[in-house]
Amino acid sequence: MLNFEYHNPVKIVFGKDQLPKLPSYLSDEQVSGKVLILYGGGSIEKTGLLDRIKQVLSSYQLSYFKGVEANPEYSTLMKAVEQIRQENIEFVLAVGGGSVIDAAKFIVGAVNYDGEPWDVLARKGSAQFKDALPFGTILTLPATGSEANSGAVISRSEIQEKRTMGGPLFFPKFSFLDPTLIATLPERQIANGIIDAFMHTLEQYLTYPTQNRLQEREAEAILQTLIEIGPKVLQNPSDYDAAANLMWCATHALNGNLRCGVPTDWATHMIGHELTALFGIDHARTLAIVAPRLYEQLFEEKKEKLQQYGQRVWNLDGSPEQIAQKAIEETETFFQRLGVNTRLSSYSPEAPSAVNIVRERFLERNWHLGEHKNVDALIAAKIVEQSL
Ligand code: NZQ
Ligand code: ZN
Repeated sequence: MLNFEYHNPVKIVFGKDQLPKLPSYLSDEQVSGKVLILYGGGSIEKTGLLDRIKQVLSSYQLSYFKGVEANPEYSTLMKAVEQIRQENIEFVLAVGGGSVIDAAKFIVGAVNYDGEPWDVLARKGSAQFKDALPFGTILTLPATGSEANSGAVISRSEIQEKRTMGGPLFFPKFSFLDPTLIATLPERQIANGIIDAFMHTLEQYLTYPTQNRLQEREAEAILQTLIEIGPKVLQNPSDYDAAANLMWCATHALNGNLRCGVPTDWATHMIGHELTALFGIDHARTLAIVAPRLYEQLFEEKKEKLQQYGQRVWNLDGSPEQIAQKAIEETETFFQRLGVNTRLSSYSPEAPSAVNIVRERFLERNWHLGEHKNVDALIAAKIVEQSL
């Protein structure tokens, strides 16, 4: 087992009818001043969630920032930063999916930063956020695990970039996880959520065999649960127990637990981010496009783990080679059964241009990704080419 350090301070409040506890969580954080409610395009207005939040926080001074996009945009978030500076906000409450929660992480770091905050995302010199306002979340879409981790991904469309940030300052103080909120999600977002959680698990599992049996079996448990309940949630998002399992799986897939003592990959995500930056494809769909081709490309080095995954998660039999191959096919078919197209060309007529752009960006950034640090510009470009 590899060495590791583990710390996750996020208080999780899970279940239905928990919202009345929100004031007590804010008072635990000694919030007495203004709270900024940060949200997306308006789903929380339509579903009535915003009104319910206003009701339980009626004794607080509230301010609002509406308009965080899916794949949160730097220029939009800088407007929120300006509002926080002007209104002397003490605490940010992010209400939404991964985009709104990621947006909060960036905003709370950028607000007291003297320089150009993009430098932090672009990893320019030693640029780093040095402090952050406290924030909490109310999750409305199970997918990213952002509600329980300290990472964020921010886009800047004018330069077609999507970059990551994070660190111990960016853990939410608390996160409310109410599975009943899944009921209003469009099918597309439910499918995205299942795939994102599935892929977070695979990124920390599908590497090479380790002696960390606990983490390996925890990963397998998440994968099996998602295979079992994912289609049920799609069919009936009001099925509370299925929705609750999806929500809890998605949180567990990226709350820092699965990576303890094991090698991790993340190359699918990093290539996927480029595809979102170039073509605006939903995050999870980029993963469904890239992952099967990446596993084929790196078949030899991932073969043993693919076999374990095929046997334990998909109950496959045959020769080790056949099981490993079939495991990739089962994974792709699972994504397709959720209604997701796994071919890049079906998303944009410009798709072939991604091959060269990804190659150039990997070269420029000197990226060597994956558990063996061998996914370089050449291999990444090949994977994108195979994904077309
Ligand atoms: O904006 P509103 O109107 O709220 O609508 C949203 C949005 O259009 C809608 N939605 C959310 N909850 C809803 C709802 N509609 C009806 N009912 C509800 N209960 O869903 C749409 C998508 O929301 P978004 O937050 O963009 O989705 P998701 O949670 O999948 O987040 C994706 C973002 O997270 C990043 C991705 O790169 C992407 O930018 N990720 C963040 C990670 C992290 N911080 O750990 C890890 C992930 O790998 C991922 O990269
Ligand atoms: Zn993801």
